[in-house]
Amino acid sequence: MLGVCYYPEQWSPDLWQDDARRMADLGLSHVRIGEFAWSAIEPEPGRFAWDWLDRAIDTLGRAGLRVVLGTPTATPPKWLVDQNPEILPHDRHGRPRRFGSRRHYCFSSPVYRAQTRRIVEAVARRYGGHEALVGWQTDNEYGCHDTVRSYSPAAAAAFREWLQKRYGTPAALNEAWGNRFWSMEVRSFAEVDLPMAAVTELNPSHVLDFYRFSSDQVATYNDMQAAIIRAHSPGRFITHNYMGAFPDFDHYKVSGAIDFASWDSYPLGFTDSIAALGFSDEERVRYACTGHPDISAFHHDLYRGMTDRRFWVMEQQPGPVNWAIWNPSPRDGMVRLWAWEALAHGAEVVSFFRWRQAPFAQEQMHAGLNRPDNVLDTGGREAEATARELSGDWWRAIKDRPMQPAQVALVFDYDTAWHHEIQPQGRSFSYLALVFTWYTALRRHGVDVDIVPPGRDLRSYKAVFVPSLQHVTPEAHKAFAACSGQVVFGIRTGAKTASFQIPRNLPPGPLQDLLPVKVTRVESLRPGLLRELRWRNRAYACGTWVERLEVDASAGVQGSFDSGDPAIVEKSGRTYVAAWPTRELALDVVSHTLAAAGIDAMRLDEDIRLRRRDGITFAFNFSGDSRPAPAPAGATYVLGAQSIAPFNLSAWKS
Ligand code: GAL
Repeated sequence: MLGVCYYPEQWSPDLWQDDARRMADLGLSHVRIGEFAWSAIEPEPGRFAWDWLDRAIDTLGRAGLRVVLGTPTATPPKWLVDQNPEILPHDRHGRPRRFGSRRHYCFSSPVYRAQTRRIVEAVARRYGGHEALVGWQTDNEYGCHDTVRSYSPAAAAAFREWLQKRYGTPAALNEAWGNRFWSMEVRSFAEVDLPMAAVTELNPSHVLDFYRFSSDQVATYNDMQAAIIRAHSPGRFITHNYMGAFPDFDHYKVSGAIDFASWDSYPLGFTDSIAALGFSDEERVRYACTGHPDISAFHHDLYRGMTDRRFWVMEQQPGPVNWAIWNPSPRDGMVRLWAWEALAHGAEVVSFFRWRQAPFAQEQMHAGLNRPDNVLDTGGREAEATARELSGDWWRAIKDRPMQPAQVALVFDYDTAWHHEIQPQGRSFSYLALVFTWYTALRRHGVDVDIVPPGRDLRSYKAVFVPSLQHVTPEAHKAFAACSGQVVFGIRTGAKTASFQIPRNLPPGPLQDLLPVKVTRVESLRPGLLRELRWRNRAYACGTWVERLEVDASAGVQGSFDSGDPAIVEKSGRTYVAAWPTRELALDVVSHTLAAAGIDAMRLDEDIRLRRRDGITFAFNFSGDSRPAPAPAGATYVLGAQSIAPFNLSAWKS
């Protein structure tokens, strides 16, 4: 269940056999290769150099390793860029982004799509039936380095076609976007430009459609790759390695063409450098060498929900990385902890990035399982220790069982992320930070969480949290209406129509038949500007965002602002919270809701997290001190003990 990312093309073939043997000896079963190797596979247009890749795959296969092959489309070679410069993506000022790193292609370029078909078909034909090959990764990290949205002529042409399909007539588009405003009306789709370089604020409806279009371009590009692979490689899985904290395209849609999602887990880099997650400086320091205790779990829960509760970690941080703002070393023990944490959340394979630190090129400061001098590094030793533990009978008994649904769901929506990005209405508004606040509050109660898209059947859940859902589709409405569990709706839910207008009946729009409240005013608050919210004998100083509600007499006002306006309203198990929750408010609302839903919960120590899998409870200690395991007296431990060692875990039969 462990793997590694390997780049045979970057090393002398003399090393391959020894590398493969050492991978197998370490206890690794899978190896991912090939995803950046286009220039080695096709050094010149139409001339394929297969022999090295044949030999590399054979060598790995002979060592008993199962190979995952990446299509090399994230790195079009120089000759291709020179031959067809129109494949380059354009930045938001309309300038081509040039060759010299990676991901230098535009999803809308018909020429690049044709080139993609050619190279993917060649690779899939050659290796689709190889006995060592178990599956495929399409491309690499779609969207990395801000590459979902390209402002190229090819994107403009494809956007116009997309709009024509969506609206049919320019009049319908004008109406949907409110183009009478500021004389923005167009007479034909040809008159629509990309949303860029305007004098001031662009029309949010225009921008949202461009974001949706750009997301669809990723999906159709991935569909195309997947169809080619399926035709030439029957019986092999297809996955894609998604990123962390990255909402620029709809991952649910892209996952339509793959067998399961995988993702790339870099807990320290995310904790240090992703501003949108909203961590305080104090948290960044505190968790600099462990990662925030919820950062990996959040993504495991998110990506497990892309398909039928299956996922992999395709890249796991093995030591310091090179790309964050600061790059400290993980504490000894964390690489093993992260691997077990992924497995506890249902990962089928955890694959480390990378086998050996490369002493050359862009990522020379990025650790591997081995140092550049080929000596096993700390991360490598921890991978080895994890592999040994994975041979335990208790684990073998459960490892192939499908993951069961959780009792609690959290609704995550990419379209909502784009709404908030386009119209934050206050500098500190970040959808990811809002979602993370609720998620952390749930995880602090020791409950397992499924992250799901709006519209998914919610009937099996006892409690559902919706941090924000800007546009409530008919499908989403139906799923909420059919859910008999507790449902908590957060700010800016039902706040917009499908085309980014304020609903006629005001927010929360269509939800008003489930919960009779109306949002009549919203306020964004600069740091330090606070509103007191009182609920169940406690006061909370809320910032960032508050809403004014008009409440029908049939609903119960449970909490109020100091102004006297209602802040928390409930009717028949459905609750609306009209403020950005402070941590304490989120914790208290979660406690209250879980109790109302009849879910067993506890308040965990800040640095401890739990996850259950098939009768085993795992407890992870992200702190530097030993902590008591929240286990029943007399529990039987399969890993660790009643006192959880620092940066370590315990697991017991529950
Ligand atoms: C990932 C990427 C890898 C490598 C890694 C470094 O985002 O997929 O190719 O660059 O980061 O941490």
